[in-house]
Amino acid sequence: MTTKSYDGTIERKLFSEGEIAAAVERLAKAVARDFAGQPLLVLGVLKGALYVTVDLVRAISRVPDGPSQVELDFLVVSSYGNSTRSSGEVRMLKDTNASIAGKNVLVVEDIIDNGLTLQYLRSLLLGRGPASLKSCVLFDKPYNRRVDVPIDYVGLVTPDEFVVGYGLDYAESYRNLPYLAQLRPWVFSE
Ligand code: IMP
Ligand code: MG
Repeated sequence: MTTKSYDGTIERKLFSEGEIAAAVERLAKAVARDFAGQPLLVLGVLKGALYVTVDLVRAISRVPDGPSQVELDFLVVSSYGNSTRSSGEVRMLKDTNASIAGKNVLVVEDIIDNGLTLQYLRSLLLGRGPASLKSCVLFDKPYNRRVDVPIDYVGLVTPDEFVVGYGLDYAESYRNLPYLAQLRPWVFSE
């Protein structure tokens, strides 16, 4: 499906490609400053955080005097299936191979909504004895939080809508949109 064929299904653009890039740049600077001279393991949460993780790590590497080295790995979790409401049940589809003990770990998520996914990942990773564990989320939907989970780096706050693009999907479509968008309501009833 080309990006053009999505056009009739998009209600409005929420953040442009440029606004997202600027937010990622801000996050990268903050992370690079906090881990200056130290090694850092960046763990991207697939599939949604694929875009932000890659762009973030690239931007961190451009900051002078950032981390001494950056290790990059991914894990895959699922909490949605094909619906727009989180099932509340987080499933690990593929764990990371990276060893966590003694490392500075940064978990990168695309978006936080009720908070259960990040809470699940934090308690899992904390059990493996990292030197430090921080969380970075590109998009924050703070309206329906069910758990109080610490977030160290937040990119952009979105409206209380189901959003797609820049890695975020609806039923596996729209991830490749370069911007963040809200879909027309009828899309969900198709
Ligand atoms: P939470 O467990 O409710 O905090 O949701 C976290 C996960 O649900 C994210 O990693 C996303 O993959 C997915 N998610 C939450 N809100 C949205 C959305 O508006 N669009 C697409 N995916 C979402
Ligand atoms: Mg996700």
